[in-house]
Order: sequence, then C-alpha cells, then structure tokens
Amino acid sequence: MELALKTRRNLMLSQKWKQGLVGSALLALLVVSNPMVNASGWMTEEEEIVRASMIVGPTKNDDNCSSCHALETEAWEATSHFATFKTRHRTDEAKEILANMGSKSMKRTGDCRQCHYTSELKNEKVRASFGVSCESCHGAGREWLAVHSKLGGDINASDLKWGTGKEQAADSRMQRLAKSQEKGMINSSMIYAIAKNCFGCHTVPNELIVNTGGHKAGSDFDMVAWSQGEVRHNFSSSAGAPDAPTNRTASAEQKRRLYVTGLMVDLETTLSNITRLSEKSGTYHVAMVKRANDVRNKLDAVLSAQAISELSAALESVPNPVVETSSIDAELPGKLGIATQVFLKSHDGSELSGIDGLIPTVLKGTPY
Ligand code: HEC
Ligand code: HEC
Ligand code: HEC
Ligand code: HEC
Repeated sequence: MELALKTRRNLMLSQKWKQGLVGSALLALLVVSNPMVNASGWMTEEEEIVRASMIVGPTKNDDNCSSCHALETEAWEATSHFATFKTRHRTDEAKEILANMGSKSMKRTGDCRQCHYTSELKNEKVRASFGVSCESCHGAGREWLAVHSKLGGDINASDLKWGTGKEQAADSRMQRLAKSQEKGMINSSMIYAIAKNCFGCHTVPNELIVNTGGHKAGSDFDMVAWSQGEVRHNFSSSAGAPDAPTNRTASAEQKRRLYVTGLMVDLETTLSNITRLSEKSGTYHVAMVKRANDVRNKLDAVLSAQAISELSAALESVPNPVVETSSIDAELPGKLGIATQVFLKSHDGSELSGIDGLIPTVLKGTPY
C-alpha cells in the first residue's frame, strides 16, 4: 500500500501544471499560452483547496450560474453529470471500487471527488457539493464571473441581458470574451480546451482506480455524439434567443471541427496517460494502448477522406501501431495539441464536408 501511495504521489507531482497549483495571475498566462487547464483528477490536497476556493457553483450560492443561465441549468440538471452527485455513490459498483481501494466514501475520497464532483471550500475543508458542473467544463468561475457578462468586459458596465451577447458590437464582445479567458474562462468557442477537459476525465487518467479499484478504463467517448445529446445546452445562440430559445444543435461545420478535435485530443490525452504510467502492462496500460490505436484508425479514415496537412504531419511521429513496449516521447502529446490548435485556427469547417459520413449520428443521451 505504501508503495502504491508513493507511486501515486509521483504521478501527482508530474502534473504540476494543474490549475489549482499556480496563482491566478500565472494561471491566466498558462491558459492563454497553453490551455491545458484540466478539471479532472490528481490534484494534490493543496491544489484541490485552491480550486475549490475558485468555484462559484451552479446553484445554491448568491452569485451562482443558474441565476442568469436558467435554461442551461435546467438542461444540466437532466444529465448524468448532475445525477452522479445524488446516485452514483449508492450503487454496488461504486461500493465495490471503494472497497478495493480501501476507502469508504466517494464524496470524501479525493480519487473519486476530482472527477465525479465539483467541490467547494467549507470551513476550510474541501467538500463535494455538486456533480460534474458548469465550471468543470468552462473553468472555475470566481475570477471571471464579474467580467464575462459585462459590456466590453468593463466591470462597471451593467450586466448584459441573457442571450443578447451575440448582438454586442464585435470588438466589445471580443474584449469581453478575451478578458474572461485571461481570467480562466473556457468560452464555448474554445473547443480544444473544452475537449481537453472532457478527455481529462473520460480517459480516466488514474491508473490506480482502474488497476486496483476495478474502475472502467475510460469511456467509449465521441466528441460530437457525447456533446450533442444530453449534454447539449446551446440556447443563447439559437435563432429565437432571447425570446423563444431552443436548444440548437451544432452546425454541420461545427460538428466537423468537434469531431476532428475530439479524435486529436483523445489521442493526445491517451498518449500522455501512457507516458505517465507506472504499472507496465497493467489493465490500464493495455486499455490505453488499444484506445490509442482505435482512435488512430479513426484519424486515418478522416485523413483519407479529406487531406488535412497539419494533422498528417503531426501524426507521422506517433508510433503506428502503438504497442506496450512503444516508448512515447514526453513531448509528443503537446505537439499533437499544438497541431490541433493550428487545425482549429485554419479551418472553419466549411471545407471539411468529405468527413461527414464518418461523424456519428446516434447521440449519447437525449437532448433537453
Ligand atoms: C479520472 C476520472 C475519474 C475518477 C478519478 C473516478 N471516476 Fe468513476 N467514472 C468516471 C467516468 C468518466 C465515468 C463514466 C464512464 C462511462 O459512462 O463511460 C465513471 C463512471 C463510474 C461508475 C459507473 C460505471 C459504469 O459501469 O457505469 C462508477 C461506479 C464509478 N465511476 C465509481 C467511481 C469511484 C468509486 C471512484 C473513486 C474511487 C471513481 N469513480 C473515480 C471518471 C472517474
Ligand atoms: C460537460 C461539459 C459542460 C458542462 C457541465 C456545461 N457546459 Fe456549457 N458548454 C459546453 C460545450 C461543449 C459548449 C459548446 C457546445 C457546442 O458548440 O455545441 C457549451 C456552451 C455553453 C454556452 C454557450 C451556448 C450557446 O448557445 O452559444 C453557455 C452559455 C454555457 N455553455 C453555459 C453553461 C452553464 C451555465 C452550465 C452549468 C449549468 C454549463 N454550461 C455546463 C460544455 C459544458
Ligand atoms: C449576472 C448574470 C450571469 C451570471 C451570474 C453568470 N452568467 Fe454566464 N453569461 C451571462 C451573459 C449575459 C452572457 C452573454 C450571453 C450571450 O452571449 O448572449 C453569458 C455567457 C456565458 C457563456 C458563453 C460565453 C461564450 O460566448 O462562449 C458561458 C459559458 C457562461 N456564461 C457560463 C457561466 C457560468 C459557468 C456561470 C457561473 C459560474 C455564469 N455564466 C454566471 C450572464 C451571467
Ligand atoms: C470533471 C470530470 C468530467 C468532465 C470534465 C466531463 N465529464 Fe462527462 N462524465 C463524468 C463522469 C464522472 C460521468 C459518469 C457520471 C455517473 O454516471 O456517475 C460522466 C458521464 C457523461 C455522460 C453520460 C455517459 C453515459 O454513460 O450515459 C456524457 C454524455 C458525458 N459525460 C459527456 C461529457 C462531455 C461531452 C464532456 C466535455 C464537453 C464531459 N462529459 C466532461 C466526468 C466528466
């Protein structure tokens, strides 16, 4: 057990870029230059405390998100991300994993808390308060809350009305989004950073809870299918907003960008998980090797349907296939990340219709 703890500690130390560790000023720089802000596991206790102190919370508190984003909150309340707080810890599977890990309570075990819950600071202690919430995907809100809804990002200006932000003068809107982003907000257009968060939890990068606990070694996750089903909450940009908002689906162009970004971030995260492994050929390692090859095949299908030079160039340095003995250069995941961001900058999706046949159409869960 001591050895396991020590290994885990080393794993945690290798994640020093985690959001909670750095001060918010430094964090802002990090977010802009390298949006590897990840809400998921492996924060140290101190990191968890810092993060919890930056959480506004979707509901309950005075300044919560639901006070302005009522529809988004209703949609969220119909997801498994919300339900996990109320139900998951009571299931037999959860109790079995906890027993294997030598723990008793999901909400009090950091290993579970960091992916299944949003925590707040109560009496200086980290306490799970909600399921996977707004700030797990959009960034902890304390610093950007005040700016993100003000004209031109001027906190003395009055609040925008819900759904009117898109009609704001372009430069004023740009300032508002840029200022929020500097303070750690992940806007809906930042799909690389959002995808990093999804895969940061959904590849389950915590080998101990898989190898020792028996937890699932990652989700069969697709960025389009999984974001456009139960998770979808695109009300503010719908045709009828703000008068008659509907939960708009992503456009064909946006789906293409989401699909390719999802595959690239899946590969990036999976390879990064492999570089941090401590138990070679364990259940988690085997699962990650399979995952890397599955996603590589999907990327190859994309590239044969549609030439995307910046991606094919980056993929050349990925072992094909990945095997358990492959040594993955620690810099490789980051390079894939840069290629993905270059891809997003240079493609608005309109020229990628060649891949439409590859994009899943069966959604995960029912849209609200
Ligand atoms: C690194 C992120 C992460 C951590 C840490 C984590 N989980 Fe999970 N867990 C997930 C994800 C993602 C899913 C959803 C899997 C899916 O539906 O594809 C999940 C699903 C589950 C399920 C349902 C499994 C099923 O077959 O549907 C149980 C039970 C569970 N987790 C228990 C736990 C317990 C107990 C802990 C702490 C020991 C824990 N989890 C820690 C990410 C995590
Ligand atoms: C699981 C991750 C996740 C969670 C949880 C989440 N969001 Fe989002 N949010 C996204 C993604 C992804 C998009 C962009 C979706 C797209 O383009 O189809 C988005 C888009 C948005 C938008 C812009 C919608 C538009 O019409 O342009 C708003 C506003 C928003 N989210 C607010 C919230 C609020 C408030 C909550 C909590 C009640 C929340 N989100 C919870 C991932 C999430
Ligand atoms: C005082 C009201 C208010 C509160 C509280 C509030 N928001 Fe917003 N939010 C807005 C307004 C106004 C917009 C701009 C809407 C638009 O663009 O039409 C916005 C936009 C957003 C967007 C979309 C930005 C973009 O274009 O990509 C997200 C995401 C978001 N809010 C998340 C949150 C989260 C998470 C919380 C809680 C931590 C929160 N908001 C709390 C008013 C608020
Ligand atoms: C903080 C960690 C975390 C982040 C970030 C996250 N998820 Fe999840 N997600 C989970 C966990 C944990 C579950 C399983 C909840 C349960 O059932 O107990 C889950 C479940 C889901 C489910 C339901 C799966 C099922 O089996 O029915 C969908 C869909 C989903 N997530 C989509 C997304 C998308 C899309 C994103 C990014 C935009 C995302 N998630 C980001 C942790 C996360």
